[in-house]
Amino acid sequence: MIKNKPTLLVTRKLPPDVERRIKRDYNGIFNPDDRLYSTDELLQKCAQADAILPCHTEDLSAAVIERLPDRIKAIANYSVGVDHCDLAAAKRRGIVVTNTPDVLTDATAELTMLLMLGAARRASEGERLIRAGQWNSWSPAFMVGTQVTGKRLGIIGMGRVGQVTAKRARGFDMEIHYHNRRRLQPDKENGAIYHPNLESMLPLCDFLAMQCPNLPETQDLLNAERIAQLPDGAIVVNSARGSVVDEDALIAALKSGKLAAAGLDVYKNEPHIRRDFAELDNVFLLPHVGSATRETRDAMGFRALDNLDAIFAGNEPTDRVA
Ligand code: DGY
Repeated sequence: MIKNKPTLLVTRKLPPDVERRIKRDYNGIFNPDDRLYSTDELLQKCAQADAILPCHTEDLSAAVIERLPDRIKAIANYSVGVDHCDLAAAKRRGIVVTNTPDVLTDATAELTMLLMLGAARRASEGERLIRAGQWNSWSPAFMVGTQVTGKRLGIIGMGRVGQVTAKRARGFDMEIHYHNRRRLQPDKENGAIYHPNLESMLPLCDFLAMQCPNLPETQDLLNAERIAQLPDGAIVVNSARGSVVDEDALIAALKSGKLAAAGLDVYKNEPHIRRDFAELDNVFLLPHVGSATRETRDAMGFRALDNLDAIFAGNEPTDRVA
C-alpha cells in the first residue's frame, strides 16, 4: 500500500474493478466519458498528476513527452505495445515507463485464430448476407471457403503471442513455420520450422500471421514484393499493428485474387480505415479488439497498477521498458 496517495491521470475508461483499486490507492483523475483527449487537453490534465496510465490511443511522442510537467514520474501503459510512447524521450526526462506483457497473450492469440477462421470461412460475408435477409438457398457451390485444418501457417514474429498462436494452430493440425530475429530454444519452438529469412518461408505459407511489433525495421514489412512470394490463394492475418503491412499492396492483392482473403484487427491510421477494406468481400474486419476480453482488460489494469505501486514504493517495476 502506498502511504501518501500519488495523483494518477487515467486517460481512458477502465474496467470497474481496476478503477476501484485506483480509487483506493491513488487520487485518480478519471475520464468517465472515455473521450480521446487532444494533446493540449492531455497536457493540461497532467499538470496535477504524478503519473499517467495511458493506452496506445494516446500520443506520447517525443514532442509531447518533452512538454510533460516535471512532477510526472511514471507512464504505466495499459498496453503491451509501446509504439505510441517515445521511450528515449521518457528516459531523457527521467520518467519510468512500463507496459503490460503476458496478460494479453491468450486473448490476442485467440483473436488471431478467429481472424484465420473468419477470413478462411468467409464469416463476415455470410453474416452480412443473413442480416440483409438475402440468404435464400443452400447449394454445394454456396459460400465455399478454405479449410484451415492441416494447412501451413507462417508466423512473422515468434514472441509470446506468436508462440501461443502456434500452440492453438497445432490444435488444427497446422504445420508451423516462423520467422523471428532469433531462433527459439527447442522447447519453445515445439517442432515449428525456423526460417532465418522471409524469402524461404513465404512460398510455404497457406496462412501468414503478422505478430511482430511496430519498429522502424518492421514498417510495411509485408509489401507487394513479399506478397508476390506467397502461394496464390494465401490468407493473411494481422493482429499486431497496421504499420507492418503495406495496405496498398494488400488491397491490390485482395482485389486481384492473389490473396484469397485477409483477416485484420489492426490498421494504419486507426480508427479511420481505408474504405477499400470495407468494400471488399474477402476481408474479415475487426476493430482492434485483440485484448478485448473482460479477463484480459482486468489483468492489464492490475498489471499496470502493480508496476505503478512498485515505482511509488521505490522498487523496480516488473515491466519497465524505459
Ligand atoms: C496493446 O496492448 O498493444 C494492444 O494493442 C491494445 O492496446
